[in-house]
Amino acid sequence: MGAVRNILLIIHIISAGLWITEEFISFIMRRLIAANRGKPAELTLANATLVINGTFGPLASMGILLTGIGMTLNNGWVLLGIGGYTPGWLFVKQVIYIVLIVFVMVVLRPQSEKLAAAFKAATSDGSMIDEARELGSRMWTLGTIHSLIVLVNIILAVWKPAIG
Ligand code: HEM
Repeated sequence: MGAVRNILLIIHIISAGLWITEEFISFIMRRLIAANRGKPAELTLANATLVINGTFGPLASMGILLTGIGMTLNNGWVLLGIGGYTPGWLFVKQVIYIVLIVFVMVVLRPQSEKLAAAFKAATSDGSMIDEARELGSRMWTLGTIHSLIVLVNIILAVWKPAIG
């Protein structure tokens, strides 16, 4: 089990943890936001959630990718079976990772930009507008879909089912 593999795996697991933590942050913040409905704190908390998840996401996805590639090559495997061997469970994980990044780029990021713009349009006294609340609840749903996809890869990685 070489030191390189262990160091990469530790960073990989921390990155996976960071990614799935977004769901717990959203769960807690959602309740705080609802408890402050109509007060200036509602907008501040919603903005904070967008900033926290917008910071964790790119960090986690880059951490996963770089250490994932490192461990794959370190174990003598290849990416997506191109020019060599990739275990079935890892092949599926790599495909799911690509799907996740496409989901983030095509669906999640444009939605969060719309939400950030709606926050800016909020009234001068800092209270939330209904349009932003609607965009916010759509963002929660998309965030949960994202977390479920990450969870599938965690299960696949630990279970390592014989595929193919
Ligand atoms: C959502 C994305 C991903 C998540 C949540 C994730 C999560 C994990 C977790 C939790 C483990 C540790 C499993 C264990 O030791 O029991 C693991 C192992 C591993 N992951 Fe990922 N992973 C992801 C994407 C990737 C990608 C894209 C690659 C390759 C490019 C990759 C390559 C690997 C490898 C090679 C191992 C096994 C390392 C070893 O045991 O030597 N992972 N992954």
